[in-house]
Amino acid sequence: MKLPLSEFVRRRRRLLRLMGRGAAAVLPAAPPRIRNRDAEYPYRQDSDFYYLSGFPEPEAVLVLIPGRRAGQTVLFCRERDPAREIWHGRRAGPEGAVRDYGVDEAWPISELDATLVELLAGKERIFYNFGLNAEFDACMITCLNRLRAKGRSGIAPPREFVALERPLHAMRLLKSPAEIRLMRHAARVAAAAHVDAMRMCRPGLCEYELEAALLHGFRAAGSQPSYNPIVGGGANACILHYTENNSPLNNGEMVLIDAGCEVDHYASDITRTFPVNGVYSPAQRTIYELVLAAQEAAIAKCRPGNSWNAPHDAAVRVLTRGLVQLKLLRGEVRELIKKESYKRFYMHRTGHWLGMDVHDVGDYKSGGSWCRLEPGMVLTVEPGLYIPEQKGVARKWWNIGVRIEDDVLITRSGCEVLSRHVPKDPDAIEALMAR
Ligand code: GLY
Ligand code: MN
Ligand code: MN
Repeated sequence: MKLPLSEFVRRRRRLLRLMGRGAAAVLPAAPPRIRNRDAEYPYRQDSDFYYLSGFPEPEAVLVLIPGRRAGQTVLFCRERDPAREIWHGRRAGPEGAVRDYGVDEAWPISELDATLVELLAGKERIFYNFGLNAEFDACMITCLNRLRAKGRSGIAPPREFVALERPLHAMRLLKSPAEIRLMRHAARVAAAAHVDAMRMCRPGLCEYELEAALLHGFRAAGSQPSYNPIVGGGANACILHYTENNSPLNNGEMVLIDAGCEVDHYASDITRTFPVNGVYSPAQRTIYELVLAAQEAAIAKCRPGNSWNAPHDAAVRVLTRGLVQLKLLRGEVRELIKKESYKRFYMHRTGHWLGMDVHDVGDYKSGGSWCRLEPGMVLTVEPGLYIPEQKGVARKWWNIGVRIEDDVLITRSGCEVLSRHVPKDPDAIEALMAR
């Protein structure tokens, strides 16, 4: 499943319009990253670069120049090279870039230094994100100094460098129908993998065996993990970013799985917590149902016009009230919320934007107040409670860690839970695991 070329063309046109004449934008592809010695991490294109280009290769630079007669979109990329392609894989080459990616012009990356100066000469505003790619920052600074040197021939250097992320991330925050279809699919694939992991779980397996089921589900559908899966049994569920995934899964404990996949650079991000042996103990069920109630209250706040923070506030209210009822916190609910006492057991926020990046781009506040939810935004809703062994807490709660995370699209009438295909009702989970 992939986005059509027309989607990328539309995005470039939109940004060109927003930038206006006298401007240019420059975006480098992500560099390949070494894992150890000659082995690289799987290549992942930079999200901003991909959002505008759809181009999957490293060693490429996209330049957008509103109003340029010879072509407003220019891509620099690697040339075709049969000898290298035998070793390292196919390349589009400049010709293929124009043919398959719809840019107006494409040049060999080896010509970047000379040609970029020509493309940027006389531009007043350069849209670029400094600080993300040190090597390319240096290239931009060299280019700037060459532009300054042109001052003597009457071509003024740029007056402003503008953060490209301002307009671009505002665009990425609102998902188009085609993006939503991809994200629905990414959520479906991840949900099916979670269901597989629930089905196969039993005491005596190791965390990595459930991880293997997740990875199999992702890869068998042509996707890949959108982040390192978390599979934490028992006390490991209380470690928020636990990724060792190498402990046995014990009878009587729960396991927390936080795993999602990426389809054509769009992520899902799902968490479920279930009993290793298929049946929640009374204490586990109590905490689980409290987190579920908080999650449902938060999802009920996911509607257009509501503040970004409304789901979090709703979750905190339900959790704090519940913690008082269970005598895990003592005091008056309003006061405990004000003092953030719930942070002892709920130390993270209730969600984040979701999109090409798992923690996606987009503002959370604007002008000092929380942003309003709008149709087309996608966020996670992921309250949790984490109760490691500690003084002042009854032993029956020790080492219970629960998080329930769904991916939620804001729609015109409310919201759509994209990750709804993996059960979260405790009876439904028990029924699934009993089969
Ligand atoms: N899996 C990362 C997160 O839930 O934010
Ligand atoms: Mn998340
Ligand atoms: Mn997650």
